Amino acid sequence: MEPKELESYRKAGKIASEIREWSRELVKNNAKALDIAEKIEAKIIEAGAGIAFPVNVCINDVTAHYSPKYNDELKLTKEDVVSVDLGVHMDGFIADTAYTVDLSKKYKDMLAANMEALEGAIELVKPGALVSDIGKSIQDTLTAAGYRPIENLTGHEVKQYDLHAGLSIPSIPVPHNLKVQEGMALAIEPFATDGYGRVIESKHAEIFSLVAPKPTRNRDARAIIEEVIDRQGLPFAERWLAKKIPPLRLDLAMRDLLGNGTLRAYPTLHEKENGVVSQFEHTVIVTKDGCEVTTK
Ligand code: CO
Repeated sequence: MEPKELESYRKAGKIASEIREWSRELVKNNAKALDIAEKIEAKIIEAGAGIAFPVNVCINDVTAHYSPKYNDELKLTKEDVVSVDLGVHMDGFIADTAYTVDLSKKYKDMLAANMEALEGAIELVKPGALVSDIGKSIQDTLTAAGYRPIENLTGHEVKQYDLHAGLSIPSIPVPHNLKVQEGMALAIEPFATDGYGRVIESKHAEIFSLVAPKPTRNRDARAIIEEVIDRQGLPFAERWLAKKIPPLRLDLAMRDLLGNGTLRAYPTLHEKENGVVSQFEHTVIVTKDGCEVTTK
């Protein structure tokens, strides 16, 4: 890896880690999910970095890709298990990190096992390590504690302006022999659940990315393209656009852009049997004989 690239990954990681720790006090009973997301996103900009993807605030069986809508009234309660997933980038080099807070106080064991699964996975990361062995280690740790991994979500390689690049890091053993290689940047994110262990898509999406701009007669649609094109394919929230385009017109323009293939939607994912889900995540860079955690 080029020294400049490494420096950007480290800087993004340090900022992501500091903001993650700072954000913990926001996750409390009665807090609005929208406030949590907006405060974290503002903090990322304030730190001189870029937002790699809209902040996810996922509650209970909601597992991933839930970012609040512009007028979202959702509030945390003292019965909730809340996961916060945030991404920071420097020149497109990404740090992706997540944690879960158990406001219900009923899932202490699951969170502990989830953290242990992440730590165990990170210990296995080195050049030549089979991703299947990492997946097995995650599954073994979680099942030993009486929980299950989410089998159809994986960690992922990150590259410049590319959040899901190349190699996947599963949370179960897999029937192939793909290996970790030196110089890779990997976001490792096991999810634990007391449910079935799979996610399914819901109808709602708040997170989108630009695939390829297509011609459109809709002026708002053209304004959206202009607004997000500098993200170079990194995901954005519809909420960000609601500050500039009135809601009804925004919906129409988004439909237009999704219909003609300009945008891709990332629907909210929830646990198949509505099990409660937790998530812990770090980004690492694979070194000669192990890895460096950038988001420590
Ligand atoms: Co993440």
